Amino acid sequence: MKRPILIHPDPRLKKACDPVADLSDELRALAEDMLETMYDAPGIGLAAPQVGYMNRLIVMDCAKDDGEPARPMVLFNPEIVAASDEKNVYEEGCLSIPDQFADVTRPSAVDVRWLGLDGEEHAQTFDGLWATCVQHEIDHLNGKLFIDYLGPMKRQMITRRMQKLKRELARG
Ligand code: NI
Repeated sequence: MKRPILIHPDPRLKKACDPVADLSDELRALAEDMLETMYDAPGIGLAAPQVGYMNRLIVMDCAKDDGEPARPMVLFNPEIVAASDEKNVYEEGCLSIPDQFADVTRPSAVDVRWLGLDGEEHAQTFDGLWATCVQHEIDHLNGKLFIDYLGPMKRQMITRRMQKLKRELARG
Protein backbone atom coordinates (compact mmCIF):
# COMPACT_ATOMS: atom_id res chain seq x y z
CA MET A 1 0.00 0.00 0.00
CA LYS A 2 1.34 3.39 -1.00
CA ARG A 3 1.63 5.94 1.80
CA PRO A 4 1.37 9.72 1.44
CA ILE A 5 4.76 11.46 1.67
CA LEU A 6 5.03 14.45 4.01
CA ILE A 7 6.22 17.65 2.40
CA HIS A 8 8.67 20.03 4.11
CA PRO A 9 8.07 22.07 6.25
CA ASP A 10 6.50 19.62 8.69
CA PRO A 11 7.42 19.24 12.37
CA ARG A 12 7.66 15.45 11.96
CA LEU A 13 10.55 15.94 9.51
CA LYS A 14 12.52 17.87 12.16
CA LYS A 15 12.34 15.31 14.98
CA ALA A 16 14.70 12.52 15.98
CA CYS A 17 13.12 9.07 15.59
CA ASP A 18 12.95 6.28 18.15
CA PRO A 19 15.00 3.09 17.81
CA VAL A 20 13.06 0.01 16.76
CA ALA A 21 12.91 -2.38 19.72
CA ASP A 22 11.69 -5.47 17.91
CA LEU A 23 10.47 -6.21 14.40
CA SER A 24 6.70 -6.35 14.63
CA ASP A 25 4.53 -7.40 11.68
CA GLU A 26 3.36 -3.79 11.56
CA LEU A 27 6.94 -2.55 11.05
CA ARG A 28 7.63 -5.17 8.37
CA ALA A 29 4.44 -4.10 6.57
CA LEU A 30 5.50 -0.47 6.90
CA ALA A 31 8.88 -1.32 5.31
CA GLU A 32 7.11 -3.00 2.35
CA ASP A 33 4.80 0.00 1.97
CA MET A 34 7.76 2.37 2.09
CA LEU A 35 9.52 0.46 -0.72
CA GLU A 36 6.34 0.57 -2.82
CA THR A 37 5.95 4.31 -2.10
CA MET A 38 9.63 4.95 -2.96
CA TYR A 39 9.54 3.04 -6.27
CA ASP A 40 6.26 4.71 -7.24
CA ALA A 41 7.53 8.26 -6.53
CA PRO A 42 10.06 7.40 -8.06
CA GLY A 43 12.94 7.77 -5.63
CA ILE A 44 16.06 5.91 -4.45
CA GLY A 45 15.51 6.24 -0.70
CA LEU A 46 12.81 6.89 1.87
CA ALA A 47 12.85 7.26 5.66
CA ALA A 48 9.97 6.39 8.01
CA PRO A 49 9.36 9.98 9.23
CA GLN A 50 8.65 10.96 5.62
CA VAL A 51 5.50 8.85 5.84
CA GLY A 52 4.78 10.01 9.40
CA TYR A 53 6.31 7.11 11.39
CA MET A 54 8.82 8.19 14.00
CA ASN A 55 10.83 4.96 13.95
CA ARG A 56 14.42 4.39 12.87
CA LEU A 57 13.72 2.69 9.56
CA ILE A 58 14.92 3.51 6.05
CA VAL A 59 14.54 1.84 2.67
CA MET A 60 16.63 2.38 -0.44
CA ASP A 61 17.53 1.08 -3.86
CA CYS A 62 20.22 2.94 -5.77
CA ALA A 63 20.72 0.17 -8.36
CA LYS A 64 17.91 0.87 -10.75
CA ASP A 65 19.42 3.91 -12.48
CA ASP A 66 22.22 1.81 -13.95
CA GLY A 67 19.90 -0.71 -15.56
CA GLU A 68 20.93 -3.17 -12.86
CA PRO A 69 18.31 -5.45 -11.35
CA ALA A 70 16.39 -3.88 -8.46
CA ARG A 71 18.14 -4.16 -5.13
CA PRO A 72 15.67 -3.15 -2.42
CA MET A 73 17.22 -2.67 1.01
CA VAL A 74 15.45 -2.31 4.36
CA LEU A 75 17.49 -1.01 7.29
CA PHE A 76 16.21 -0.82 10.87
CA ASN A 77 18.27 1.20 13.37
CA PRO A 78 20.97 2.03 10.78
CA GLU A 79 24.12 3.44 12.29
CA ILE A 80 27.21 4.91 10.64
CA VAL A 81 30.18 3.34 12.40
CA ALA A 82 32.93 4.83 10.22
CA ALA A 83 33.22 7.44 7.48
CA SER A 84 35.99 8.07 4.94
CA ASP A 85 38.08 11.23 5.05
CA GLU A 86 37.57 11.47 1.32
CA LYS A 87 34.52 13.53 0.38
CA ASN A 88 32.14 13.39 -2.52
CA VAL A 89 29.70 15.96 -3.91
CA TYR A 90 26.32 14.85 -5.21
CA GLU A 91 23.37 16.88 -6.38
CA GLU A 92 20.76 15.72 -3.88
CA GLY A 93 17.01 15.87 -3.88
CA CYS A 94 14.36 14.57 -1.51
CA LEU A 95 10.84 13.20 -1.93
CA SER A 96 9.75 15.55 0.88
CA ILE A 97 11.21 18.53 -1.03
CA PRO A 98 10.00 17.80 -4.56
CA ASP A 99 11.80 19.22 -7.61
CA GLN A 100 14.52 20.99 -5.58
CA PHE A 101 18.14 19.94 -5.95
CA ALA A 102 21.45 21.13 -4.52
CA ASP A 103 25.05 19.96 -4.20
CA VAL A 104 25.85 18.40 -0.83
CA THR A 105 29.34 17.29 0.30
CA ARG A 106 29.53 14.11 2.37
CA PRO A 107 32.07 11.35 3.10
CA SER A 108 32.44 9.28 -0.06
CA ALA A 109 32.27 5.95 1.81
CA VAL A 110 30.63 4.88 5.08
CA ASP A 111 30.48 1.69 7.11
CA VAL A 112 26.91 1.10 8.26
CA ARG A 113 25.47 -1.38 10.74
CA TRP A 114 21.75 -2.18 10.89
CA LEU A 115 19.08 -4.70 11.70
CA GLY A 116 17.64 -6.41 8.62
CA LEU A 117 14.12 -7.62 7.82
CA ASP A 118 15.46 -11.08 8.78
CA GLY A 119 16.03 -9.81 12.35
CA GLU A 120 19.80 -10.28 11.93
CA GLU A 121 22.49 -7.66 12.35
CA HIS A 122 24.13 -6.60 9.07
CA ALA A 123 27.16 -4.49 8.27
CA GLN A 124 28.36 -3.14 4.94
CA THR A 125 30.51 -0.46 3.38
CA PHE A 126 28.62 1.81 1.02
CA ASP A 127 30.21 4.02 -1.60
CA GLY A 128 29.19 6.08 -4.61
CA LEU A 129 25.51 6.99 -4.78
CA TRP A 130 24.71 4.36 -2.11
CA ALA A 131 26.92 6.21 0.40
CA THR A 132 25.21 9.53 -0.29
CA CYS A 133 21.77 7.94 -0.12
CA VAL A 134 22.30 6.06 3.14
CA GLN A 135 23.69 9.21 4.82
CA HIS A 136 20.80 11.32 3.51
CA GLU A 137 18.25 8.79 4.82
CA ILE A 138 19.93 8.38 8.23
CA ASP A 139 19.89 12.19 8.51
CA HIS A 140 16.09 12.01 8.20
CA LEU A 141 16.01 9.79 11.31
CA ASN A 142 17.79 12.60 13.16
CA GLY A 143 15.42 15.30 11.92
CA LYS A 144 17.93 16.61 9.39
CA LEU A 145 17.22 17.46 5.75
CA PHE A 146 19.68 17.97 2.89
CA ILE A 147 18.76 21.66 2.77
CA ASP A 148 20.20 21.99 6.29
CA TYR A 149 23.64 21.70 4.60
CA LEU A 150 22.94 24.76 2.46
CA GLY A 151 23.36 28.43 3.32
CA PRO A 152 20.43 30.17 5.03
CA MET A 153 19.40 32.13 1.88
CA LYS A 154 19.13 29.03 -0.30
CA ARG A 155 17.40 27.07 2.45
CA GLN A 156 14.81 29.81 3.00
CA MET A 157 14.18 30.12 -0.71
CA ILE A 158 13.49 26.38 -1.01
CA THR A 159 11.34 26.39 2.15
CA ARG A 160 9.22 29.26 0.78
CA ARG A 161 8.72 27.35 -2.47
CA MET A 162 7.58 24.31 -0.47
CA GLN A 163 5.16 26.42 1.62
CA LYS A 164 3.67 27.73 -1.61
CA LEU A 165 3.44 24.18 -3.03
CA LYS A 166 1.68 22.98 0.15
CA ARG A 167 -0.85 25.81 -0.06
CA GLU A 168 -1.55 24.88 -3.68
CA LEU A 169 -1.91 21.18 -2.80
CA ALA A 170 -4.23 22.03 0.10
CA ARG A 171 -6.45 24.04 -2.25
CA GLY A 172 -6.59 21.04 -4.57
NI1 NI B 1 15.05 12.83 1.71
